[in-house]
Amino acid sequence: MSGSPTPANLVLIGLMGAGKSTTGMRLAKRLGRPFVDTDQQVEMDTGKTIAQLFADQGEEGFRQAETATVQRVAQKRGQVIAVGGGTVLNPTNVELLRKTGTVFWLDVRPEILVGRMGSRVSRAHRPLLADATSADELHRRVNQLREARDEVYRAAAHHIISVDGDQSGDVVLEQILRIIGHRPPKHP
Ligand code: S3P
Repeated sequence: MSGSPTPANLVLIGLMGAGKSTTGMRLAKRLGRPFVDTDQQVEMDTGKTIAQLFADQGEEGFRQAETATVQRVAQKRGQVIAVGGGTVLNPTNVELLRKTGTVFWLDVRPEILVGRMGSRVSRAHRPLLADATSADELHRRVNQLREARDEVYRAAAHHIISVDGDQSGDVVLEQILRIIGHRPPKHP
């Protein structure tokens, strides 16, 4: 008999700025699992930045590349995966991610998202928000995206992690660990 079977993937979904990559990296470290960020993988697979893909091929071109990457990434199990904010707009991606993993929606209040995405640097790989020049405009866009995607995130998620206050990353991480029944190793 070989050892225990490789566990399902843990997949983090949610809007830009929700902390999917940061939480995902920390979660992977705690669990000793590989971490995969599909935005980075799209860039590696295509040899282009997300901004270039949007500029050259439009959002549609980016979405096709994203779906191809998700299909490749979901071949493996046991990973922690942070996907781009719009990955779950494609029902094929949702089906695959749910079939091969447990999906967590990091549902973060728009005010918090806007605060995190204020700088141009943190918007560099987010062409959908790149030309929002004022804080008001950024707020409006984020609210629009949230309204448009709320149902899709809800339907894609096995679990919803609501972040509506100043919960630290630790609280979010611990919530996910509790849901998956992870117990820290006992120290003598
Ligand atoms: C997008 C989110 C981005 C990136 C792309 C499109 C979206 O990823 O995939 O700019 O449609 O919400 P993050 O959510 O990791 O910022």
